[in-house]
Amino acid sequence: MLDAASARQEDLRVLDHRREIVPDWFQRERMVGYVCYVDKFSHTLAGLERHLDYLNELKVTYLHLMPLLQPRPAPNDGGYAVVDFRAVDSRLGSMDDLEHLAGELRARGISLCIDLVVNHTAAEHIWARKALAGEVEYQSFYFTFPDRSLPDAYERTLLDVFPSFAPGSFSWVPDLQAWVWTTFNDYQWDLNYGNPNVFLAMLETMLFLANRGIEVMRLDAVPFIWKRLGTDCQNQPEAHLLLQAFRALVRVVAPAVAFKAEAIVPHHQLVQYLGKGERERTECDLAYHNQLMVQLWSGLAARDAALMTHALMAMPSPPQQTSWVTYVRCHDDIGWAVSDLDAAAAGFNGFRHRRFLNDFYAGRFPGSFARGALFQENFATGDARISGTAASLCGLEQALEVGDALLIDQAIRRLVLLYSVVFSYGGVPLIYMGDEVALRNEHSYEKDPALADDNRWMHRPFMDWDAAARRSDLNSVEGRVFSEFCRLVEARQRVPALQAAGSVTPLWTDNGRIFAYVRAHPRAGQFLGLANFGDGPESCDARILAEARLSDPQLALSSDGRLDVRDGRIHMPPLGCLWLVDR
Ligand code: GLC
Repeated sequence: MLDAASARQEDLRVLDHRREIVPDWFQRERMVGYVCYVDKFSHTLAGLERHLDYLNELKVTYLHLMPLLQPRPAPNDGGYAVVDFRAVDSRLGSMDDLEHLAGELRARGISLCIDLVVNHTAAEHIWARKALAGEVEYQSFYFTFPDRSLPDAYERTLLDVFPSFAPGSFSWVPDLQAWVWTTFNDYQWDLNYGNPNVFLAMLETMLFLANRGIEVMRLDAVPFIWKRLGTDCQNQPEAHLLLQAFRALVRVVAPAVAFKAEAIVPHHQLVQYLGKGERERTECDLAYHNQLMVQLWSGLAARDAALMTHALMAMPSPPQQTSWVTYVRCHDDIGWAVSDLDAAAAGFNGFRHRRFLNDFYAGRFPGSFARGALFQENFATGDARISGTAASLCGLEQALEVGDALLIDQAIRRLVLLYSVVFSYGGVPLIYMGDEVALRNEHSYEKDPALADDNRWMHRPFMDWDAAARRSDLNSVEGRVFSEFCRLVEARQRVPALQAAGSVTPLWTDNGRIFAYVRAHPRAGQFLGLANFGDGPESCDARILAEARLSDPQLALSSDGRLDVRDGRIHMPPLGCLWLVDR
């Protein structure tokens, strides 16, 4: 820590000081995130620097570059099997390029976020190679078992993450004559944090990256970092203690750095990653709001706002100094985290609803507009998840094939509707690369044997710069979508009540298709968001304005440019959204 602190560069120290003065920097309404794969967006890190103006057009302040540390050769789980945490994937550039890019971004007010896989390394990482070479010290970096007795005992309560292409959580490694713990693929070896040297090695990695100018670390697969027999080995108390310790120590050296937890877990467990345990502690600063994402897709398919209102009402609020990242799509599949209890409360059968969502988004439910695919269908449990780009899941692919202007219009409205909630629910909204120009599913991965069995690649397309070049042509699909995104960004940045430290509460409306949510901030005032999940015009009782404590409501955003209140009701266009603030 001392070494890292003394090596920290002047401009980063300035940033440290600024952030000590303004600790809520990542909670501000100006925050707009963008997520992309470097190779898919710009081939290289140097190439990315040529597209910074594009990011400025979207007023991006936070850039998450998907895994870019040196991975093993494919297959490498999209870069999540790292052989060297201190080197950049040589196809993308060098560590110097990364440092340079971080500086360029910082100068534009854009914080760089990268993935740090804390749960595992590639089987080819130097630590694993030393373990294979017989170094006992490094064998204890991982979990190894001479026979199946303990693995079998653990597997009684473990869940399968990749049941179809990597069933089980242990892999036999002949060179070790042992079973190695591999939660994900057989080439991803789980690290053993019971060994303090693992903690120290990871801390060194974090400090190294912080000093290269990384401002946000996305800690991949954190729920899995502590194992306990008889449990699902996720969200263990020790995992939280480790994160609290990492956070505290990194902050001593680099106060500018924020941690983002990648924890796709039930909500009472999720908020613990933001430090809300039995007692509040400082842990991660940011975490993915998976539930919001899932509920938005569920609502879109069912034309229903009741289930999301119910489920999101039950969601505990995160500690005041933390924030969600909110998103419509990411590089992973969509798992239907709709609980049986929430479903029942809204009049649905949980199991049947989840099956409906899979059928609907796989495009095999009668009348479905979506073009997606099932991911990891588990024949034992009946579970499955969904792959597909946001635009394809919203119906654009189908609409363009049919060539029907009305269907195209609806698909665009759906995409914008989902993003309108994500931009105003509270937290850092993320634009997943290509959504701003409505990129559809890509199928080129099917021809690559290293990727073919993982259909998540269908929603990890290459940036289509020709399509993006049409973004200012308002007659093109790209232009229509891009201009709507710009409208959302600009509207968001004008609404102080979207500061993440405020609270968010879903409200019941008297119309089961209209989702309503209030944001309240002690200094920045009230905000009411409305989103119509119905395909037709809908209205709700205007008394909701008073309930949201908006005495003199003013329009911050409206899909048809107006606030239409007649006969005591707020009228909304099909798939429309409305943002209102205090005057
Ligand atoms: C995270 C990533 C996912 C990856 C897994 C294993 O969940 O988002 O893409 O497969 O970790 O590293």
